[in-house]
Amino acid sequence: MHVTIVDHPLIQHKLTLMRRKSTPTSAFRQLVNEIAMLLGYEVTRDLSLTNRTIETPLEEMESPVLAGKKLCFVSILRAGNGLLDGMLSLMPSARVGHVGLYRDPTTLTAVEYYYKVPQDIGDRLAIVVDPMLATANSAIAAVDRLKQGGATKMKFVCLLAAPEGVRAFNTAHPDVPIFTAAVDRELNDHGYILPGLGDAGDRIYGTK
Ligand code: PRP
Ligand code: URA
Repeated sequence: MHVTIVDHPLIQHKLTLMRRKSTPTSAFRQLVNEIAMLLGYEVTRDLSLTNRTIETPLEEMESPVLAGKKLCFVSILRAGNGLLDGMLSLMPSARVGHVGLYRDPTTLTAVEYYYKVPQDIGDRLAIVVDPMLATANSAIAAVDRLKQGGATKMKFVCLLAAPEGVRAFNTAHPDVPIFTAAVDRELNDHGYILPGLGDAGDRIYGTK
């Protein structure tokens, strides 16, 4: 199983608060936002830098800035949008793509209903975000679609993963590293992560 578990104490604490069924929508949404920022920090740790000549108030210097084109966050709708704002607050100039997918409740296969990403996605690092990696059908379908659309360099970021999903994603896309706050025990018969946090989209948007 290839996965980076981001075990920063702030992330682990906030994730525990999110898991509790008594946590209301407003707090859940705020926590997703905060964790997204912390995950965003970790997933961008190896971005390349290049030196630029600048002038401080005192003298000229060579100082590092991010190299290459701005990266692109790709949100898997709809729950992925919960992670966007936190990530964008770190990188306000990033581009944003959307892949609309829902999980058929019976077959658990991913059904696409929307796709829009920057035309030059092939020239950018694409950071694909979705809070949950359960069967991984949605994440695999999203990355398949992005590869068809020209994306070449991707990372996948989620809050929670199931071991089954990590293995399936590793097999389908060994070139795309996974970052998550935790890998839980297993999936139940309905494809929900145990112990998990429930349905991420419903909890972010208060739809259930
Ligand atoms: C949830 C979640 C993932 C997917 C994970 O989305 O946000 O996209 O399920 O499950 P999987 O790994 O088994 O595919 P859902 O289909 O509930 O849609 P939503 O984001 O619109 O709520
Ligand atoms: N999608 C969710 O939102 N939660 C799960 O546990 C599994 C899939």
